[in-house]
Amino acid sequence: MKIKIEKIAYGGFGIGFLDSKPCFVPYTLPEEEVEVRITKEKKDYNECKVIQIINPSKIRVNPPCKYYTVCGGCDFQHTDYTNQIKIKTEILKEQLLRIGKIKTDVDEVIPSENPFYYRNRVQFKFDGKNFGFYKRDSHQTVDIEECLLLKEDINQLIKPLKKFLIKYGLQPSNIHIFSNTKDEKVIKFIFSDDSQILNVIPKIEIIHEEVSEDIKGVSFESKKNRIDLGQKSIFYMVDKYKFRVSMDSFFQVNIYQIPKLIKKVEEILKQNLSERLLDFYCGVGTFSIPAGFYVKDVLGIELNESAVKDAKSNIGHNGLKNVRFLKAKAEKGIKYALDFKPDTIIFDPPRAGIGKEVINSVSKIDRLKRVIYISCNPSTLARDINYFENNGFKLKSVSMIDMFPNTHHIESISLLERV
Ligand SMILES: C[S@@+](CC[C@H](N)C(=O)[O-])C[C@H]1O[C@@H](n2cnc3c(N)ncnc32)[C@H](O)[C@@H]1O
Repeated sequence: MKIKIEKIAYGGFGIGFLDSKPCFVPYTLPEEEVEVRITKEKKDYNECKVIQIINPSKIRVNPPCKYYTVCGGCDFQHTDYTNQIKIKTEILKEQLLRIGKIKTDVDEVIPSENPFYYRNRVQFKFDGKNFGFYKRDSHQTVDIEECLLLKEDINQLIKPLKKFLIKYGLQPSNIHIFSNTKDEKVIKFIFSDDSQILNVIPKIEIIHEEVSEDIKGVSFESKKNRIDLGQKSIFYMVDKYKFRVSMDSFFQVNIYQIPKLIKKVEEILKQNLSERLLDFYCGVGTFSIPAGFYVKDVLGIELNESAVKDAKSNIGHNGLKNVRFLKAKAEKGIKYALDFKPDTIIFDPPRAGIGKEVINSVSKIDRLKRVIYISCNPSTLARDINYFENNGFKLKSVSMIDMFPNTHHIESISLLERV
Protein backbone atom coordinates (compact mmCIF):
# COMPACT_ATOMS: atom_id res chain seq x y z
CA MET A 1 0.00 0.00 0.00
CA LYS A 2 1.10 3.55 -0.77
CA ILE A 3 1.24 6.49 1.58
CA LYS A 4 2.59 10.03 1.57
CA ILE A 5 4.80 11.07 4.46
CA GLU A 6 3.60 14.33 5.98
CA LYS A 7 6.11 15.05 8.73
CA ILE A 8 8.68 13.51 11.06
CA ALA A 9 7.61 12.69 14.60
CA TYR A 10 9.76 12.60 17.74
CA GLY A 11 11.39 9.18 17.57
CA GLY A 12 12.55 9.73 13.99
CA PHE A 13 9.58 8.13 12.22
CA GLY A 14 7.89 9.60 9.19
CA ILE A 15 4.12 9.92 9.64
CA GLY A 16 1.60 9.27 6.88
CA PHE A 17 -2.06 8.28 6.97
CA LEU A 18 -4.00 5.25 5.76
CA ASP A 19 -7.75 5.99 5.89
CA SER A 20 -6.94 8.71 8.45
CA LYS A 21 -5.11 6.24 10.73
CA PRO A 22 -1.52 7.43 11.47
CA CYS A 23 1.26 5.19 10.17
CA PHE A 24 4.78 5.40 11.57
CA VAL A 25 7.40 4.69 8.94
CA PRO A 26 11.10 4.76 9.87
CA TYR A 27 13.77 6.04 7.45
CA THR A 28 11.41 8.28 5.48
CA LEU A 29 11.19 12.04 4.91
CA PRO A 30 8.40 14.61 4.51
CA GLU A 31 6.61 14.59 1.13
CA GLU A 32 7.98 11.20 0.13
CA GLU A 33 5.59 8.79 -1.47
CA VAL A 34 6.39 5.31 -0.19
CA GLU A 35 5.10 1.80 -0.49
CA VAL A 36 4.79 0.24 2.96
CA ARG A 37 3.92 -2.98 4.71
CA ILE A 38 2.17 -2.84 8.10
CA THR A 39 4.36 -4.62 10.67
CA LYS A 40 2.22 -3.92 13.77
CA GLU A 41 -1.40 -2.95 13.77
CA LYS A 42 -2.41 -1.02 16.89
CA LYS A 43 -5.75 0.47 17.81
CA ASP A 44 -4.76 4.07 17.12
CA TYR A 45 -1.84 3.72 14.71
CA ASN A 46 0.11 1.33 12.49
CA GLU A 47 3.82 0.61 12.53
CA CYS A 48 5.10 0.13 9.00
CA LYS A 49 8.19 -0.86 7.04
CA VAL A 50 9.20 0.74 3.75
CA ILE A 51 9.08 -1.61 0.79
CA GLN A 52 9.94 1.00 -1.80
CA ILE A 53 10.48 4.74 -1.95
CA ILE A 54 8.30 5.67 -4.92
CA ASN A 55 9.02 9.37 -4.88
CA PRO A 56 12.15 10.28 -2.93
CA SER A 57 12.53 13.61 -1.18
CA LYS A 58 15.00 16.17 -2.53
CA ILE A 59 16.73 16.07 0.83
CA ARG A 60 17.30 12.29 0.77
CA VAL A 61 20.96 11.20 0.59
CA ASN A 62 22.68 7.83 0.48
CA PRO A 63 23.48 6.89 4.08
CA PRO A 64 27.26 6.72 4.55
CA CYS A 65 27.11 3.70 6.90
CA LYS A 66 26.89 0.27 5.30
CA TYR A 67 24.93 -1.10 8.28
CA TYR A 68 22.30 1.64 8.21
CA THR A 69 18.73 0.35 8.78
CA VAL A 70 20.12 -3.09 9.72
CA CYS A 71 21.83 -1.86 12.88
CA GLY A 72 19.38 -0.13 15.23
CA GLY A 73 21.71 2.72 16.26
CA CYS A 74 21.08 5.58 13.78
CA ASP A 75 17.84 6.78 12.25
CA PHE A 76 18.66 10.04 10.42
CA GLN A 77 21.55 9.14 8.10
CA HIS A 78 19.25 9.28 5.05
CA THR A 79 19.35 13.08 5.09
CA ASP A 80 22.32 15.40 5.46
CA TYR A 81 23.30 17.02 8.73
CA THR A 82 21.85 20.47 7.95
CA ASN A 83 18.44 18.88 7.36
CA GLN A 84 18.71 16.71 10.46
CA ILE A 85 19.18 19.89 12.49
CA LYS A 86 16.17 21.57 10.84
CA ILE A 87 13.98 18.51 11.46
CA LYS A 88 15.02 18.25 15.11
CA THR A 89 14.44 21.97 15.70
CA GLU A 90 10.90 21.65 14.29
CA ILE A 91 10.23 18.56 16.44
CA LEU A 92 11.42 20.40 19.57
CA LYS A 93 9.07 23.32 18.80
CA GLU A 94 6.20 20.95 18.00
CA GLN A 95 6.62 18.97 21.25
CA LEU A 96 6.71 22.17 23.32
CA LEU A 97 3.53 23.37 21.65
CA ARG A 98 1.58 20.09 21.62
CA ILE A 99 2.54 18.73 25.04
CA GLY A 100 3.53 21.87 26.94
CA LYS A 101 1.12 24.31 25.22
CA ILE A 102 4.12 26.63 24.82
CA LYS A 103 4.45 28.53 21.57
CA THR A 104 8.11 29.43 21.20
CA ASP A 105 10.94 29.75 18.73
CA VAL A 106 14.19 27.95 19.34
CA ASP A 107 16.54 30.81 20.25
CA GLU A 108 19.80 29.15 19.33
CA VAL A 109 20.81 25.99 17.51
CA ILE A 110 24.24 24.55 18.23
CA PRO A 111 25.21 21.83 15.73
CA SER A 112 28.05 19.38 16.26
CA GLU A 113 31.30 20.39 14.54
CA ASN A 114 31.50 16.83 13.20
CA PRO A 115 28.36 14.68 12.90
CA PHE A 116 30.52 11.54 12.79
CA TYR A 117 33.22 10.01 15.02
CA TYR A 118 31.89 11.93 18.04
CA ARG A 119 30.93 9.31 20.66
CA ASN A 120 33.29 8.73 23.58
CA ARG A 121 31.21 5.87 24.97
CA VAL A 122 29.74 2.69 23.54
CA GLN A 123 28.03 -0.54 24.56
CA PHE A 124 28.87 -3.37 22.19
CA LYS A 125 27.06 -6.73 22.08
CA PHE A 126 28.84 -10.02 21.50
CA ASP A 127 27.25 -13.41 20.89
CA GLY A 128 30.45 -15.45 20.63
CA LYS A 129 30.69 -14.82 16.89
CA ASN A 130 29.20 -11.43 16.05
CA PHE A 131 30.58 -8.28 17.68
CA GLY A 132 28.58 -5.08 17.25
CA PHE A 133 25.07 -3.84 17.95
CA TYR A 134 21.58 -5.29 18.10
CA LYS A 135 19.62 -5.35 14.91
CA ARG A 136 16.71 -2.91 14.98
CA ASP A 137 13.84 -4.28 17.15
CA SER A 138 15.68 -7.54 17.86
CA HIS A 139 18.25 -9.22 20.10
CA GLN A 140 20.32 -10.47 17.20
CA THR A 141 23.82 -9.00 17.01
CA VAL A 142 24.98 -7.37 13.76
CA ASP A 143 28.70 -7.95 13.27
CA ILE A 144 30.41 -4.64 12.51
CA GLU A 145 33.91 -3.52 11.54
CA GLU A 146 33.34 0.16 12.26
CA CYS A 147 30.67 2.51 13.62
CA LEU A 148 30.70 5.99 12.07
CA LEU A 149 29.51 7.59 15.30
CA LEU A 150 32.37 6.36 17.46
CA LYS A 151 35.67 8.07 18.20
CA GLU A 152 38.26 6.50 15.94
CA ASP A 153 40.27 4.99 18.77
CA ILE A 154 37.20 3.02 19.89
CA ASN A 155 36.74 1.72 16.35
CA GLN A 156 40.34 0.56 16.33
CA LEU A 157 39.58 -1.70 19.30
CA ILE A 158 36.86 -3.71 17.57
CA LYS A 159 39.13 -6.20 15.74
CA PRO A 160 41.64 -6.89 18.53
CA LEU A 161 38.90 -7.06 21.19
CA LYS A 162 36.90 -9.60 19.24
CA LYS A 163 40.05 -11.67 18.61
CA PHE A 164 40.95 -11.49 22.32
CA LEU A 165 37.50 -12.63 23.46
CA ILE A 166 37.45 -15.56 21.04
CA LYS A 167 41.03 -16.62 21.96
CA TYR A 168 40.28 -16.73 25.72
CA GLY A 169 36.81 -18.23 25.33
CA LEU A 170 35.11 -15.21 26.89
CA GLN A 171 31.55 -14.37 25.96
CA PRO A 172 30.45 -11.16 27.67
CA SER A 173 26.96 -10.15 26.60
CA ASN A 174 27.86 -6.47 26.95
CA ILE A 175 31.10 -4.59 26.51
CA HIS A 176 31.12 -0.98 27.73
CA ILE A 177 33.93 1.30 26.60
CA PHE A 178 34.60 4.89 27.67
CA SER A 179 37.41 6.89 26.08
CA ASN A 180 38.78 10.30 27.06
CA THR A 181 40.34 13.20 25.14
CA LYS A 182 43.76 11.48 25.29
CA ASP A 183 42.25 8.23 23.90
CA GLU A 184 42.75 6.47 27.25
CA LYS A 185 40.03 3.95 27.94
CA VAL A 186 38.26 1.99 30.63
CA ILE A 187 36.36 -1.14 29.65
CA LYS A 188 33.73 -3.21 31.42
CA PHE A 189 32.81 -6.73 30.32
CA ILE A 190 29.45 -7.94 31.60
CA PHE A 191 28.74 -11.66 31.72
CA SER A 192 25.27 -13.08 32.06
CA ASP A 193 26.85 -16.50 32.77
CA ASP A 194 28.65 -16.42 36.16
CA SER A 195 31.02 -19.29 35.35
CA GLN A 196 32.57 -17.23 32.52
CA ILE A 197 34.47 -15.16 35.03
CA LEU A 198 36.67 -18.24 35.69
CA ASN A 199 38.10 -17.85 32.18
CA VAL A 200 39.41 -14.37 32.96
CA ILE A 201 43.20 -14.14 33.16
CA PRO A 202 43.67 -11.43 35.79
CA LYS A 203 46.52 -9.60 34.09
CA ILE A 204 46.08 -6.20 32.49
CA GLU A 205 49.44 -6.70 30.69
CA ILE A 206 47.80 -9.34 28.50
CA ILE A 207 45.10 -6.87 27.51
CA HIS A 208 47.78 -4.25 26.80
CA GLU A 209 49.71 -6.69 24.60
CA GLU A 210 46.78 -8.17 22.76
CA VAL A 211 44.28 -5.32 22.58
CA SER A 212 45.73 -1.86 23.34
CA GLU A 213 48.14 -0.04 25.66
CA ASP A 214 45.55 2.75 25.98
CA ILE A 215 43.26 0.56 28.08
CA LYS A 216 43.89 1.90 31.57
CA GLY A 217 41.37 -0.19 33.45
CA VAL A 218 39.23 -3.25 32.90
CA SER A 219 36.46 -4.77 34.92
CA PHE A 220 34.88 -8.18 34.43
CA GLU A 221 31.45 -8.33 36.00
CA SER A 222 28.84 -11.04 36.49
CA LYS A 223 25.87 -11.12 38.88
CA LYS A 224 27.96 -12.61 41.72
CA ASN A 225 31.55 -11.63 40.88
CA ARG A 226 33.66 -8.73 39.82
CA ILE A 227 37.34 -8.58 38.88
CA ASP A 228 38.91 -5.13 38.49
CA LEU A 229 42.27 -4.65 36.80
CA GLY A 230 44.18 -1.35 36.61
CA GLN A 231 42.45 2.02 37.02
CA LYS A 232 38.75 2.35 37.78
CA SER A 233 38.54 5.81 36.27
CA ILE A 234 40.18 8.14 33.77
CA PHE A 235 40.36 11.93 33.59
CA TYR A 236 38.44 13.90 31.00
CA MET A 237 39.63 17.45 30.31
CA VAL A 238 37.16 20.07 29.07
CA ASP A 239 38.97 23.39 28.60
CA LYS A 240 40.34 24.23 32.07
CA TYR A 241 38.11 21.71 33.86
CA LYS A 242 39.32 18.27 34.92
CA PHE A 243 36.74 15.54 35.47
CA ARG A 244 37.45 12.14 36.96
CA VAL A 245 35.02 9.73 35.32
CA SER A 246 34.64 6.10 36.42
CA MET A 247 33.36 3.33 34.23
CA ASP A 248 30.06 3.29 36.14
CA SER A 249 29.44 7.04 36.07
CA PHE A 250 27.46 8.94 33.46
CA PHE A 251 29.33 11.40 31.26
CA GLN A 252 28.12 13.37 28.22
CA VAL A 253 28.95 11.47 25.01
CA ASN A 254 29.71 13.95 22.22
CA ILE A 255 33.37 15.04 22.32
CA TYR A 256 32.71 18.12 20.15
CA GLN A 257 29.66 19.30 22.10
CA ILE A 258 30.73 18.83 25.74
CA PRO A 259 32.73 22.12 25.80
CA LYS A 260 29.85 23.94 24.05
CA LEU A 261 27.27 22.57 26.49
CA ILE A 262 29.33 23.70 29.48
CA LYS A 263 29.96 27.08 27.81
CA LYS A 264 26.23 27.58 27.29
CA VAL A 265 25.57 26.94 31.00
CA GLU A 266 28.43 29.32 31.91
CA GLU A 267 26.95 31.98 29.59
CA ILE A 268 23.60 31.76 31.40
CA LEU A 269 25.35 31.96 34.78
CA LYS A 270 27.37 35.01 33.70
CA GLN A 271 24.25 36.82 32.50
CA ASN A 272 22.20 35.92 35.59
CA LEU A 273 24.28 36.33 38.71
CA SER A 274 23.59 33.67 41.28
CA GLU A 275 24.73 33.09 44.87
CA ARG A 276 23.45 29.60 45.65
CA LEU A 277 23.18 27.02 42.90
CA LEU A 278 21.74 23.54 43.17
CA ASP A 279 22.66 21.01 40.46
CA PHE A 280 20.10 18.20 40.47
CA TYR A 281 21.12 15.01 38.57
CA CYS A 282 24.68 16.34 38.66
CA GLY A 283 26.64 13.24 37.55
CA VAL A 284 30.38 13.74 38.10
CA GLY A 285 29.84 17.51 38.44
CA THR A 286 29.84 18.42 34.72
CA PHE A 287 27.97 21.67 35.51
CA SER A 288 28.52 22.00 39.28
CA ILE A 289 32.30 22.22 38.89
CA PRO A 290 32.23 25.05 36.29
CA ALA A 291 29.43 26.71 38.33
CA GLY A 292 31.82 26.75 41.32
CA PHE A 293 33.80 29.45 39.47
CA TYR A 294 30.78 31.74 39.06
CA VAL A 295 28.63 31.10 42.13
CA LYS A 296 29.34 31.47 45.89
CA ASP A 297 27.86 28.11 46.98
CA VAL A 298 27.11 25.04 44.89
CA LEU A 299 25.39 21.81 45.91
CA GLY A 300 25.13 18.81 43.57
CA ILE A 301 22.67 15.96 44.10
CA GLU A 302 23.04 12.64 42.29
CA LEU A 303 21.77 9.10 42.74
CA ASN A 304 24.65 7.07 41.33
CA GLU A 305 27.27 6.30 43.98
CA SER A 306 30.17 6.05 41.55
CA ALA A 307 29.31 9.45 40.02
CA VAL A 308 29.04 11.07 43.48
CA LYS A 309 32.51 9.72 44.39
CA ASP A 310 33.91 11.12 41.13
CA ALA A 311 32.13 14.43 41.72
CA LYS A 312 33.57 14.74 45.24
CA SER A 313 37.09 14.07 43.94
CA ASN A 314 36.53 16.62 41.15
CA ILE A 315 36.17 19.40 43.76
CA GLY A 316 39.87 18.99 44.63
CA HIS A 317 41.00 18.32 41.05
CA ASN A 318 39.63 21.75 40.16
CA GLY A 319 40.92 23.57 43.24
CA LEU A 320 37.43 24.46 44.52
CA LYS A 321 36.17 24.82 48.09
CA ASN A 322 32.63 26.11 47.57
CA VAL A 323 31.11 22.97 45.98
CA ARG A 324 29.52 20.01 47.79
CA PHE A 325 27.88 16.82 46.62
CA LEU A 326 25.26 14.54 48.13
CA LYS A 327 24.10 11.10 47.10
CA ALA A 328 20.32 11.09 46.93
CA LYS A 329 17.46 10.29 44.65
CA ALA A 330 16.04 13.60 43.37
CA GLU A 331 12.65 12.88 44.98
CA LYS A 332 14.34 12.26 48.37
CA GLY A 333 16.85 15.10 47.85
CA ILE A 334 14.06 17.69 47.96
CA LYS A 335 14.59 18.15 51.68
CA TYR A 336 18.26 19.11 51.08
CA ALA A 337 17.10 21.49 48.35
CA LEU A 338 14.64 23.18 50.74
CA ASP A 339 17.42 23.58 53.37
CA PHE A 340 19.95 24.85 50.84
CA LYS A 341 17.58 27.55 49.53
CA PRO A 342 19.09 27.96 46.05
CA ASP A 343 18.37 30.97 43.84
CA THR A 344 19.24 28.89 40.75
CA ILE A 345 18.66 25.21 40.03
CA ILE A 346 20.16 23.25 37.16
CA PHE A 347 18.20 20.12 36.25
CA ASP A 348 19.69 17.55 33.86
CA PRO A 349 17.44 14.52 34.36
CA PRO A 350 17.39 11.24 32.43
CA ARG A 351 14.76 10.74 29.70
CA ALA A 352 11.92 10.39 32.21
CA GLY A 353 12.30 14.07 33.09
CA ILE A 354 11.80 15.71 36.51
CA GLY A 355 8.13 15.13 37.29
CA LYS A 356 5.41 16.98 39.16
CA GLU A 357 6.45 16.11 42.73
CA VAL A 358 9.97 17.57 42.51
CA ILE A 359 8.81 20.61 40.50
CA ASN A 360 5.97 21.46 42.91
CA SER A 361 8.31 21.12 45.91
CA VAL A 362 11.25 23.19 44.62
CA SER A 363 8.86 25.89 43.39
CA LYS A 364 8.02 26.52 47.06
CA ILE A 365 11.58 27.81 47.67
CA ASP A 366 10.92 31.58 47.84
CA ARG A 367 14.46 32.49 46.93
CA LEU A 368 14.42 30.36 43.76
CA LYS A 369 14.58 32.76 40.80
CA ARG A 370 15.58 30.65 37.86
CA VAL A 371 15.84 27.13 36.50
CA ILE A 372 18.25 25.92 33.84
CA TYR A 373 16.77 22.76 32.35
CA ILE A 374 19.03 20.51 30.24
CA SER A 375 16.90 17.89 28.60
CA CYS A 376 17.47 14.83 26.42
CA ASN A 377 13.75 14.28 25.83
CA PRO A 378 11.55 17.07 24.40
CA SER A 379 8.30 15.30 25.45
CA THR A 380 9.13 15.22 29.16
CA LEU A 381 10.72 18.69 28.86
CA ALA A 382 7.45 20.08 27.47
CA ARG A 383 5.43 18.38 30.24
CA ASP A 384 7.81 19.70 32.94
CA ILE A 385 7.90 23.27 31.58
CA ASN A 386 4.13 23.21 31.80
CA TYR A 387 4.38 22.17 35.49
CA PHE A 388 6.86 25.00 36.11
CA GLU A 389 4.58 27.52 34.38
CA ASN A 390 1.72 26.36 36.63
CA ASN A 391 4.02 27.15 39.57
CA GLY A 392 4.71 30.75 38.52
CA PHE A 393 7.74 30.32 36.21
CA LYS A 394 8.02 31.41 32.59
CA LEU A 395 10.14 29.99 29.79
CA LYS A 396 12.68 32.66 28.79
CA SER A 397 14.76 30.88 26.16
CA VAL A 398 15.34 27.49 24.65
CA SER A 399 18.40 26.35 22.70
CA MET A 400 18.97 23.10 20.90
CA ILE A 401 22.44 21.62 21.21
CA ASP A 402 22.85 18.56 19.03
CA MET A 403 24.58 15.95 21.18
CA PHE A 404 23.50 12.99 19.03
CA PRO A 405 23.97 13.63 15.26
CA ASN A 406 22.52 11.02 12.89
CA THR A 407 20.05 9.85 15.53
CA HIS A 408 16.62 11.19 16.47
CA HIS A 409 17.72 12.19 19.99
CA ILE A 410 17.22 15.86 20.86
CA GLU A 411 19.13 17.73 23.57
CA SER A 412 18.13 21.23 24.64
CA ILE A 413 18.87 23.88 27.27
CA SER A 414 16.02 26.00 28.55
CA LEU A 415 16.02 28.94 30.92
CA LEU A 416 12.97 29.53 33.09
CA GLU A 417 12.46 32.49 35.40
CA ARG A 418 10.02 33.18 38.19
CA VAL A 419 7.59 35.90 37.11
C1 LIG B 1 21.52 12.98 31.87
S1 LIG B 1 22.56 12.52 33.19
C2 LIG B 1 23.28 14.06 33.60
C3 LIG B 1 24.50 14.03 34.45
C4 LIG B 1 25.33 15.33 34.51
N1 LIG B 1 24.50 16.51 34.68
C5 LIG B 1 26.21 15.48 33.30
O1 LIG B 1 25.94 16.36 32.47
O2 LIG B 1 27.17 14.72 33.15
C6 LIG B 1 21.42 12.19 34.45
C7 LIG B 1 22.03 11.82 35.79
O3 LIG B 1 20.95 11.64 36.71
C8 LIG B 1 21.24 10.54 37.56
N2 LIG B 1 19.91 10.09 38.05
C9 LIG B 1 19.02 9.27 37.44
N3 LIG B 1 17.89 9.18 38.14
C10 LIG B 1 18.05 9.97 39.24
C11 LIG B 1 17.22 10.31 40.34
N4 LIG B 1 16.01 9.82 40.46
N5 LIG B 1 17.73 11.15 41.26
C12 LIG B 1 18.97 11.68 41.16
N6 LIG B 1 19.81 11.40 40.14
C13 LIG B 1 19.35 10.55 39.18
C14 LIG B 1 21.99 9.57 36.69
O4 LIG B 1 22.81 8.72 37.46
C15 LIG B 1 22.82 10.53 35.82
O5 LIG B 1 24.07 10.78 36.39
